[in-house]
Amino acid sequence: MTPLWKVSPTAPPRSPFEPGVHHDVIVVGAGLTGLATAVMLAREGLDVAVVDSGEVAELASGGNTGKVSLLQGLTLANIRRHHPAALVRAYVDANRAGMQWLTDFADTAGVPYARRTDHSYAQTASGVDALRAQHAAAREAGLPARMLAAEDMPAASFPITGAVALDDQVTIDPVLVTHAMARELLAEGGTLHTGIRVTGAHALPQPRVETAAGPLFSTHIVLATGTPVIDRGLYFAKVRGLRSYCVSFRVPGKVPDSTFISVDGPTRSLRPVSDEDGPGGVARLIVGGNGHPVGRSHGETAAIGDLISWTRQHFPDAEETHRWSAQDYQSHNLIPFVGAMPRGLGRIRFATGYAKWGLSNAPAAAMRLTAEIVGTSRRDRPDWMRTIGTRLTVPADIGRGAAETGRVAAALASGWSGAQSRPVPVPRPAEGSGVVANRAGRPVGVSTVDGVTRAVSAVCTHLGGVLDWNDAECTWDCPLHASRFAPDGTRIEGPALRDLPNLPRSGPS
Ligand SMILES: Cc1cc2nc3c(=O)[nH]c(=O)nc-3n(C[C@H](O)[C@H](O)[C@H](O)COP(=O)(O)OP(=O)(O)OC[C@H]3O[C@@H](n4cnc5c(N)ncnc54)[C@H](O)[C@@H]3O)c2cc1C
Ligand code: FES
Repeated sequence: MTPLWKVSPTAPPRSPFEPGVHHDVIVVGAGLTGLATAVMLAREGLDVAVVDSGEVAELASGGNTGKVSLLQGLTLANIRRHHPAALVRAYVDANRAGMQWLTDFADTAGVPYARRTDHSYAQTASGVDALRAQHAAAREAGLPARMLAAEDMPAASFPITGAVALDDQVTIDPVLVTHAMARELLAEGGTLHTGIRVTGAHALPQPRVETAAGPLFSTHIVLATGTPVIDRGLYFAKVRGLRSYCVSFRVPGKVPDSTFISVDGPTRSLRPVSDEDGPGGVARLIVGGNGHPVGRSHGETAAIGDLISWTRQHFPDAEETHRWSAQDYQSHNLIPFVGAMPRGLGRIRFATGYAKWGLSNAPAAAMRLTAEIVGTSRRDRPDWMRTIGTRLTVPADIGRGAAETGRVAAALASGWSGAQSRPVPVPRPAEGSGVVANRAGRPVGVSTVDGVTRAVSAVCTHLGGVLDWNDAECTWDCPLHASRFAPDGTRIEGPALRDLPNLPRSGPS
C-alpha cells in the first residue's frame, strides 16, 4: 500500500528538535495545508516551525490522485442545492486562487505539471440529470463548463452516458510539490520537525503545543492535521472521515489524456500519468474510487479488487504497479472549515473539510489563515474570503450533521454489541486479519501481521468507539470519527491522540 508518488523519495531533511523554543507560528501537520500556510507565512517574514508526527506528505497529501480542478465532480451542484449562488461563486473563486498559488509555486520551484480537461461524467442514464445540475451550477459560478453527450466522446473505452467538461485544469505529482514546499520553508529560514507527535495545543498562559519530545512555544498555532487534533468546537463531529482507494497501472494500449470522475456510483476516478505530472515511466493510469466512511466498510481489500477488475475490463492488459488508500474529511456544510478555534483566544486556528479536493482548497485555506495571522484588514481581503468567512449554517447542514450523528450512534452501539458476541481466547487470526473479541466486557483487538500476533484494546482512545479491522492497510479504524491505529496500537491519524494499550493475548473472558 505505497502510493505511486512515493517511488523515489525526495524528502527534505528534518531540523533538530529542541524543546522550549519559541516561534512566531507553529504549524501542526506537514501536508498541503500545513506547508502552504508555512511557506506563505515565512514569505511574510515570520519565524515558522512545522511539526508532523510522520513525514512530509505522510497522509492524504501523499495519497491522492493529484488532480487540481475547479469542477470537482458534483461539488458545485451539491453546494448550490442548499446555498445561494454567491457562496458557490466564492467557493469557485477560492479554489481558483488556490490553484493559481499552487501552479505559481510549482513554476518557481521547478515542479512540472500538466494542463488537462477535467470531466464529471455519468455512467448511467439517470446520472445525466445530476450532470445538468452540475453544469448549471458551474456556469452560474462563472466557469466555462461544457455539457457533452455520449456521442461527443466516442473514443472513451469505459461506459459514459454524458459529461460536463472543463478545460485547462491541472494534474501534478502531489508529493513532489509538497516536498518542494518543505524545502522552500527551510530555505526561508523555517523549521521542520518530522516524526514528532503533537499531543496538545493551548492558548494560555501562552500559546504552546505539547509534543512527545517536550513543548514548543509560539504566538500563533495552526492545526493542519486533517480533522483537528483538539476537541474544542467539536469539529471532529462536524466532519465525516472518508477513505478511498487508488490503483496505478502500466497500460500498453491507449489511456485517456484527460481526467474523469463519475457522478453516479460506484465512483470511478481516472487520471492519466505522464512524465510531466508524475512518474510516467512507472505507470500511465490511476483508477480511484469505492470510498466509504472510515471504519464502515464491507472489506477494504475487496474495494481495491473491484477497482482492478473494472480497469482490466476496460483497459485490457493493464498491469497493476501500486495500490494505496487515504482519507479526507467532508464538512457537514460542504464548505471547508477554516479559521480560529472557539476558546483559542484567536491564537489557535485550523483548516479541514476539503472533501477530497484539497489541492486547491488547501492553498486557499492557507491564504485565509495567513491573512488572519498577519492581520490583513477585512477590506483588503478578496471578496471570496469575505463571503466564505461569513456564510450561515442552513437547515440542510444541520440535517446532514444530525444524520451523521445517527450513524455514529449506530456504529457505537453495533461495535459494542458485536464485540460482546465473541469471547476470548480467539483462534490466532490468519495473516493480515484482525478480530474483535470480548474480554471481561471490554473489546480486545487481536491481529496477525507479518507473522506477529498481537492484542490491543479495541476501544478508540478518542471517545470509545469500537475499532474495525482494515484488511487492506492492516490497521484498526474507528467508525465514529475516523481515527486509525497500527496493529501494535500506535496512533496513525484522526482526533485520537493516545496509542491503544497493548494487552496479553489471553486473559479472563
Ligand atoms: C484517495 C484520495 C484522493 C484524493 N484526490 C484528490 C485530488 O485528485 N485532487 C484534490 O484536490 N484533492 C484530492 N484529495 C484530497 C487531498 O489529498 C486532501 O484534501 C489534502 O491532501 C489534505 O491536506 P492536509 O494537509 O489538510 O491533510 P493531510 O495531508 O492529511 O496532512 C495532515 C498532516 O497532519 C499530521 N498530523 C496528524 N496528527 C498529528 C499530530 N497529532 N501531531 C503531528 N502531526 C500530526 C499528519 O501526519 C499529516 O502529515 C484526495 C484525497 C483522498 C483521500
Ligand atoms: S475517533 Fe472518536 S471515538 Fe474514535
